[in-house]
Amino acid sequence: MRYFIVAGNWKMNKTVDEAVALVEELNQKLTPELQGEANVIVAPPYVVLPQVISSLWENSNISVAAQNCHQNESGAYTGEVSAQMLKAIEADAVIIGHSERREYFKESNADIAAKVDAAIANELVPIFCCGEVLEERKAGEHFNVIKTQIEESLFHLTEGAFSKVVVAYEPVWAIGTGETATPEQAQEIHAFIRGIIAEQYNQQIADDTSILYGGSCKPGNAKDLFANPDVDGGLIGGASLKADDFIAIVEALKVKS
Ligand code: PGA
Repeated sequence: MRYFIVAGNWKMNKTVDEAVALVEELNQKLTPELQGEANVIVAPPYVVLPQVISSLWENSNISVAAQNCHQNESGAYTGEVSAQMLKAIEADAVIIGHSERREYFKESNADIAAKVDAAIANELVPIFCCGEVLEERKAGEHFNVIKTQIEESLFHLTEGAFSKVVVAYEPVWAIGTGETATPEQAQEIHAFIRGIIAEQYNQQIADDTSILYGGSCKPGNAKDLFANPDVDGGLIGGASLKADDFIAIVEALKVKS
């Protein structure tokens, strides 16, 4: 089933007190009318996940994701957190393969494939990120780059496993830069991604995959981006750190109804 999703990637922001205050504000302001059909997810840093999860425990339509996980269940991996540990605190999802993880922590497509497997094995929804850097777009290589990222990290999955995955297209040149892909650029890549999923699996699986756009998505441009038929919502960085901005982006998803 294809879901409409707005997910907030808080990155390395918010202490426990700040995080709890933000989710409480979100929970209070996000009325069913504003939320509509949107599935809303927040992805806080690891150390605040338990508190965020418990403050959303009752009366909330907000799900919680981690921003990363390790591919192994346990062991001598100093500083890492496994998918099994995230499941144990009742996280719902995990962002995998974000471009900042690829760039700063040298995650390869193979690492990301293993993390996707770990997430699925632990019944966490993997929010798999892909996207090209500016030089790749300028050189006209963006389609190939995205295809390779998806092939090497997702196409080993069975149909059943693939159907658990949410894909986020995030052009690296648009992340945190204030420069957004145009609605046309986003639609072009989203349609391309859906096309390669249909080729690998089938049209039904492709039609059922949620494909989110990320990269300087803001209250002012969200509606135009989400209006595209292959854009099923957004993965939001900077604008997810303020309740009113994030809620305005959630509300923009009403363009789908
Ligand atoms: P941004 O980040 O909205 O701040 O550009 C998006 C992301 O990195 O997921």
